[in-house]
Amino acid sequence: MSEPDPVHLHATREAYDAIAPTYAELFHDPLADRPWERALLGAFAELVRANGGGGGVADLGCGPGQVTAYLHGLGLRAFGVDASPVMVELARAANPGLRFEVGSMAALDVEDGALGGVLSRWSVIHTPPQDLPVILAEIARVLAPGGHLLVEFPATDGPHHETQAYDHAVATAYRWSPDRLAGLLREQGLAESARLVIEPQPTDRRQFQEVQLLAYKA
Ligand SMILES: C[S@@+](CC[C@H](N)C(=O)[O-])C[C@H]1O[C@@H](n2cnc3c(N)ncnc32)[C@H](O)[C@@H]1O
Repeated sequence: MSEPDPVHLHATREAYDAIAPTYAELFHDPLADRPWERALLGAFAELVRANGGGGGVADLGCGPGQVTAYLHGLGLRAFGVDASPVMVELARAANPGLRFEVGSMAALDVEDGALGGVLSRWSVIHTPPQDLPVILAEIARVLAPGGHLLVEFPATDGPHHETQAYDHAVATAYRWSPDRLAGLLREQGLAESARLVIEPQPTDRRQFQEVQLLAYKA
């Protein structure tokens, strides 16, 4: 596995730094009208707690931290990591009791096997497909045995389609076939335990299915 492209990560960071205050305002309550997602986050939290919680739960690509705070409210020792320093500043200001760090999902400042859970909510989407295995390997490295991953991303139109780039408002993003992404997770020793596919609403600008995939480290 080659290292992820640093130029690409730099561009993503710059783009999110520039948009961070607007993003935080726009998505100030991102789960309010998302009952399915709340259900999966609740299941994720229950599974992590049942496995002892480990050393906590990392919200990778946490943005302004609202969902990190939601996980905290579900009884998890949640902390956030994001490549964008401005996002991290906003997350700290909004959640003074929680820990947020600037960092890359491909190189986490976390010991092997230290975490009970990892959430990646719409944050692997900006990683070029060839770089994703490095990030998934890093997630597998930091999870404790029996630890859980919840990863959320937009789906391709067909089950076997190649990964597709689309013109995300902030930075180029990629849609994945859930089967392909589950296959990449399997290669890192992360077994799928459940998936939820959410259909787009007729009013949604983009008619993509959304996938929430739960996996655990065997
Ligand atoms: C679409 S936003 C999602 C933010 C948050 N998870 C949410 O649900 O609102 C994507 C976030 O992932 C971060 N990100 C993207 N690639 C990253 C990487 N390789 N390492 C760390 N953070 C990354 C971006 O800076 C951005 O804040």
